[in-house]
Amino acid sequence: MTTTEPTDVTRQQTGARSPGITYQQMLDADTHPVPDVLRLESPRYLGSDDVPIERYTSREWHRKEVDHLWKKVWQFACREEHIPEVGDYIKYDIAELSYLVVRTEEGIKAYPNACLHRGRQLKEYDGHCSEIRCAFHGFAWTLTGELQDVPAAWDFPHVDQRPDDFTLPEARVGVWAGFVFINPDPDAGPIEEHLGELMEHFEVWDLENRYVEAHVSRVIEANWKIAQEAFCEAYHVNATHPQILTYLADTNSQVDVWDHCSRVITPGGSPSPLLGDEHGLSEQEILRSMLDVRVDQEAPFELADGMTARAAAAAAARERWRPVAGDRVDQMSDSEMMDSIDYTAFPNFHPWGAFNRIVYRFRPNGDDHRSAIMECFFLSPFVGERPPPAAEVKLGVDDPWVTATELGMLAKVFEQDVFNMAKVQKGLETTSKPGATFSNYQESKIRWLHTLLGEWIERGEAQAAAAGQPVEVSRGTK
Ligand code: FES
Ligand SMILES: [Fe+2]
Repeated sequence: MTTTEPTDVTRQQTGARSPGITYQQMLDADTHPVPDVLRLESPRYLGSDDVPIERYTSREWHRKEVDHLWKKVWQFACREEHIPEVGDYIKYDIAELSYLVVRTEEGIKAYPNACLHRGRQLKEYDGHCSEIRCAFHGFAWTLTGELQDVPAAWDFPHVDQRPDDFTLPEARVGVWAGFVFINPDPDAGPIEEHLGELMEHFEVWDLENRYVEAHVSRVIEANWKIAQEAFCEAYHVNATHPQILTYLADTNSQVDVWDHCSRVITPGGSPSPLLGDEHGLSEQEILRSMLDVRVDQEAPFELADGMTARAAAAAAARERWRPVAGDRVDQMSDSEMMDSIDYTAFPNFHPWGAFNRIVYRFRPNGDDHRSAIMECFFLSPFVGERPPPAAEVKLGVDDPWVTATELGMLAKVFEQDVFNMAKVQKGLETTSKPGATFSNYQESKIRWLHTLLGEWIERGEAQAAAAGQPVEVSRGTK
């Protein structure tokens, strides 16, 4: 693994760092060995231009995303454990598109969820089957996609004559660390090419040997990128989650951008630089606020002399994880116990490092560019046999996060995040400002996502133009 040294030019362009201790300085004080992957630094200046508002508000832009992104890109569909047996399948929907991801005797396959007779969706729910039979007239395929039954076949000699046209077409499938990805484009490169550095970075965290302890989704009244971008920076913490400022070093986050992945690491157990020196907190006060101890309550324990709240909380986290993670917790740094290590692979896949357990996914909600589905998975370590994956808890637009009790404390934080999203959509619909402005460093992960998105759309349009297709794709308005 090569370390990218931030150059003076990059530092200058990304602006002065937030005052206060840097993440790398915190690693210097870690009580345990720090893995090489956390020592990497890769700030990237991606320009300071505004991002066009139409990317969030325009129907035409949404259609471009469907045609040039969702039909072409690798995307996380499910975990392998969602389809453990031959015949298990899930229905993966993206925008108005739908795919079946099926475990077959030849491995996992994915098919457009459409009958080759008159087009009915083959499956409406996840499930298990011994064949793929359409509910309309009963055409049926084997799990591996060969047409095996046509009721009243005497009336379809022309189907018999074109067997290739009646074999289920396949989307590409790739598996990494227990995640099943599909790509509707049969000509796409391998998943490994798409994930790039991400795979090497996660070698130390082994997300394959985890199980889905919780899976909660919620409908959001905003474009999917508005929802996603709220989880791509810690800059919003001061205004959106002020209750955690005493122990979350928001503006001290380290933001790294590589070609195929990016990350934001936000230190925990350390106060926000935005609180300023005049509010200097003692380590004991930081610990009290982390434990949510009220002013008139005794703290459950006092810090030993010279002990920081960060190190004490990391030690407690090690003991919390020891029963399921074993003694490897003794090899893990305070950072891995305490910090938000939030990775992103384009366009919408967000696995977190260490034992943070979170994986986010954000998608358009059907063909509506003003509505999204946000999902949070908890991937937890386990001992013995892998427990079955948790069923998805589906929250509607008016269902509060707190009704999903499996999210614990995170539910309240999500509530605060979601509170902004519909308002951002509304604001963008009415603003006369043509672009959204992002910071150079703290919000550079969002800039990276938009840079790639722009490249994908541009490339797709160029390919469509070369193939003689109309560049502007519009199918109705909303
Ligand atoms: S549409 Fe599927 S069998 Fe007719
Ligand atoms: Fe947040």
